[in-house]
Parts: sequence; structure tokens; C-alpha cells
Amino acid sequence: EKGGWSSFMAKEISEEPEAVANTILGRVVDGQVVLPELAGLDDVLQDIDRIIVIACGTASYSGLVGKYAIEKWARVPVEVELSHEFRYREPVLTPRTLVVSISQSGETMDTLMAVKYAIANGARTLSICNTQGATIARESDAVVYTHAGPEVAVASTKAFVAQITALYLFGLHLSRVRGTLDDAVAAKQLSELQSIPAKIEQVLTNAPEITQLAKWMSDTRAVLFLGRHVGYPIALEGALKLKELAYIHAEGFAAGELKHGPIALIEPGQPVFVVVPSPRDPNSLHAKVVSNIQEIRARGARILAIAEEGDVAVLPFADEVIRIPLAAPLFEPLLTVIPLQLFAMELATAKGLDVDQPRNLAKSVTVE
Ligand code: M6R
Repeated sequence: EKGGWSSFMAKEISEEPEAVANTILGRVVDGQVVLPELAGLDDVLQDIDRIIVIACGTASYSGLVGKYAIEKWARVPVEVELSHEFRYREPVLTPRTLVVSISQSGETMDTLMAVKYAIANGARTLSICNTQGATIARESDAVVYTHAGPEVAVASTKAFVAQITALYLFGLHLSRVRGTLDDAVAAKQLSELQSIPAKIEQVLTNAPEITQLAKWMSDTRAVLFLGRHVGYPIALEGALKLKELAYIHAEGFAAGELKHGPIALIEPGQPVFVVVPSPRDPNSLHAKVVSNIQEIRARGARILAIAEEGDVAVLPFADEVIRIPLAAPLFEPLLTVIPLQLFAMELATAKGLDVDQPRNLAKSVTVE
């Protein structure tokens, strides 16, 4: 039941701190990740030379976020592919390929068929699922469950943050098995992850501000989303949420891609959400994104920045700044996605739409 919330979606967003905490629960012991479900797989995980993540929609964006962490920590190449594209292109699979499927429902037909294809072609399989005993989980060699609890609203929210959490736990497990990460560094990452639920609580206190913004923007016809590094999949996810809930044309771009085409879309008044990397980011992407903001602002874009507390560099160029608490750069997606989920929900609400049951969509897509 909705328990006093206006929609399942609103309730499920409010449950995100718990979803992340429950996905971590019992899986960190003495600063080390413990995934008993992978106990028998050490040989496989030591031997793999490649990971292919397959998923659809929001689940695929969690995979894109996971790629950055897994490659950084475990030094295994990771590709992310949409399930429905994967099995129609004769992918190169060997017993040293690990195919990781991600699915909230565990019943998405495209993903299930892709898992079956991977098995039939000799790859090893792991699934990240939210629904206990789901078909995809049963088909795979192993499953790491997200413990987000049942997700009822068609738009995936708490399952998304739980998927990223599970991928990060898997990434740390894999780096331990392969000996690619110093124990102290791994322990530091885990403590960062453990600090996320309280930070999500903090982000959720921005909700009234976002409701107001969505109301002002209720007749907007198109919204663009920009991000970089782990902020890039978040831009894609922000755009997907807005399409599916508010029926507004929305597109997400990697900020670095702007001058390769999308900047031509900018005209006076065009709203652009920008997921701004932390100024503490070791890759120094912050300055590059701020300069992207300046470029589009000069062409009249209306900038809605999602930036960490204390980042003053964005202030002169942003029309609105939504703040997120400080987190290690890899963990920021778990925070920056929340305002975008809230924004899509509130904009749909302002347009009088049913946020739990958007038109033409089903919660779990069990047909191809
Ligand atoms: O159940 P799954 O995670 O396999 O579902 C995948 C997509 O259908 C799903 O994430 C979809 O994109 C959501 N409606 C997005 O909010």
C-alpha cells in the first residue's frame, strides 16, 4: 500500500535510503565485502577476461554507472549493451566472458533471452535481480540480489540505486578475488558506500524546491540533460524518466559530445539539467563541465545545475542550483539521480498525469 504517499513512485523514492542500506546489509564484514552467493565462483572470476553487462532501460543505465567502478577497481574490460541488441549481432563469447544481466523484475523477456543466448554460447552468467526467485536469477550461474523491496510504480527508482549498489559490491568483490585493489582502498570505498543512505536522506529534503521548479516548468516542451563520467548515465536516466512520466521530449548527452552536434539544439530559454562533477574529482572534469555550461548559457540555455554543496563555480552561470552532499566522485550517481527522479515525478503530477501508470508502458516487459 501507498502508506500515506500520493503515489507508489513517491513512496518508493522515499525508500531509497533503505533500499541502498538493505542491499549493503550483511555484505560488509570488517571492512571487506562478503558475497556468499559468489563463493563457488572464485575460479571463474579470476579467469574472466571480459564482462558484458546486458539490461534494458533504467537497468542498463545502472550498468553504465557500474562499468566505471568495475573497470577502475578490478581492471577487467566492461561493455554495456542493451539486451535486445546483444543477441542479434553474434557477439563474441568465450568461457572467459562473464555476462552480467541486470533486471529489477528478473522477467524482462529481452534480457532473459539474452541470458539464454549467453549460456548457449558458452559464456558464464551472473544476474543482479530484485525479485527473489525470478526467471533470470534461476537461469544464471549466480545471482546477487538487490534488496530494494517490491517496486510497484512503472518508473524504476529505488531499484536503480540498489542496482548501482550491488554492482559496486560486486566490483569490490571482483577486485579482491583478482587482487587488484589494496585492502585499505577497498575498505575506504565500502565506508563511502555505507555513508550513502544518510546522504540520500539529505538530498530528499530538497523535494519542495524541486516540486516548485517542476510547477514552473509544467508547459516545457523539451528538456536536455548533460553529464560526464558517471554523471553521463545519470543524464540518460533523467531524460528517460521525464519521457516516460511527463511525456516530454528529453535527451541526455555526454557533456563532451556537445560540440559534436547537440549544441545546435540550444536556443534561448532551452532548459538544460547539468550533472556537475565534484570539483574534487581527480580527473578534473569539473572545470570542463563548467565551461560547457558557459558555452550553452551564452546561447541562451536555462541552466539547472545539480552540484555538490560548496561548489561556487557554478553560481554565476546557473539559473537554479540543486545541491547534493559531498561524496566520493564514483558514488555521486546515487545522489544526483534523486533530484531528476523527483523532477520527472513532479512535472508529471503538475500536468495531471498518473505517475504510477504512465501510458503505453508495463512494469515488466515480458514480450519481445
Ligand atoms: O525489470 P527490468 O529491470 O528488467 O526492467 C527494465 C526496464 O524495462 C525498466 O527499467 C524501464 O526502463 C523502466 N520503466 C524505467 O523507469
